[in-house]
Amino acid sequence: MKETRREPGAPPPAGAAPGGDPDSAAPDADLAVSLGDLVLANPVMTASGTFGGSGREFAPYLDLSKLGAIVVKTITPRPRPGNPPPRTRETAAGLLNSIGLQNPGFDRWVGEVLPLLRDIGTRVVINIAGETPAEYDELAGRLDGLPGIDAVEVNISCPNVEQGGACPAQDPAVTHRVISGVRARTRLPVIAKLSPNVEDVTVIARAAEDAGADAVSLVNTFLGTAVDWRTRRPVFRNVVAGLSGPAIKPLALWLVYRVVRAVSVPVIGIGGISTAEDAMEFLLVGATAIQVGTASFRTPSAAARIVRELPALLREAGAGSVREYRGTLRSWSHEAS
Ligand code: FUM
Repeated sequence: MKETRREPGAPPPAGAAPGGDPDSAAPDADLAVSLGDLVLANPVMTASGTFGGSGREFAPYLDLSKLGAIVVKTITPRPRPGNPPPRTRETAAGLLNSIGLQNPGFDRWVGEVLPLLRDIGTRVVINIAGETPAEYDELAGRLDGLPGIDAVEVNISCPNVEQGGACPAQDPAVTHRVISGVRARTRLPVIAKLSPNVEDVTVIARAAEDAGADAVSLVNTFLGTAVDWRTRRPVFRNVVAGLSGPAIKPLALWLVYRVVRAVSVPVIGIGGISTAEDAMEFLLVGATAIQVGTASFRTPSAAARIVRELPALLREAGAGSVREYRGTLRSWSHEAS
């Protein structure tokens, strides 16, 4: 599905609260964006796995209703205990994780977590994964009719399940199979979450688009590792882990830049976004929305702060809306000499 530029409907732009409240964005900034048929009040989403199980855990730190969307931790058909500890290791400019898709399984999630999300006042994106394409099919088939879910992000890019960091998003045929299976089984907007650990991410993005994805999100974590020279062992049982945080921002920005130019569907930028300035950079290269991930661990209110600060930066850029500003990166070759 091509990106539509129709005027947004409900919910009202989160940045449009009346002035005077320092926590409110300026009233004149239109932050609304469209991911296919899914309208977000603003482009700021939380990244899966970095915002608690339901997002409710972050309620003491920010007004959840101000966010464009909350993307929940990946759900699988059956419960997963995740990988043995240690599961995280901070790096000089980021975070390695090897969580292993710990989650309560779909049935318990629907019974216990989904109700917590229903009155949160923003868009809710479920994130799903399976061990086989058939498991993705199974989950997708159970989503329709569940109240309170606005879209599905398909995690085909987790590096922490199979030994060696392999994932479906490393193969265009498998990507196509998984995304077309999900597409066929749900009416919800489908977002394919892509891996950076591929030779050419544009090939995978096009496979997802051809399979019917309404949007693509990238990037998931980069493969990395940590070792302990004292014990002479890898830190993580799987050896390999996923790197996120500021260290990956320039790498992610480059891949988003490339994918925006390779597909027609909206692109959601992810990777080291901590500030509104970072968000502006991803929007500038053409991302329609962005996800805040690792930054929420350090600053739980980071995503809300980005929402709050975007209007002033848009004004500084001379734009009245995200849609007007998005993708306006200039080319050196067009500059007058
Ligand atoms: O290990 C994990 O749960 C990470 C998931 C992901 O990167 O998608």
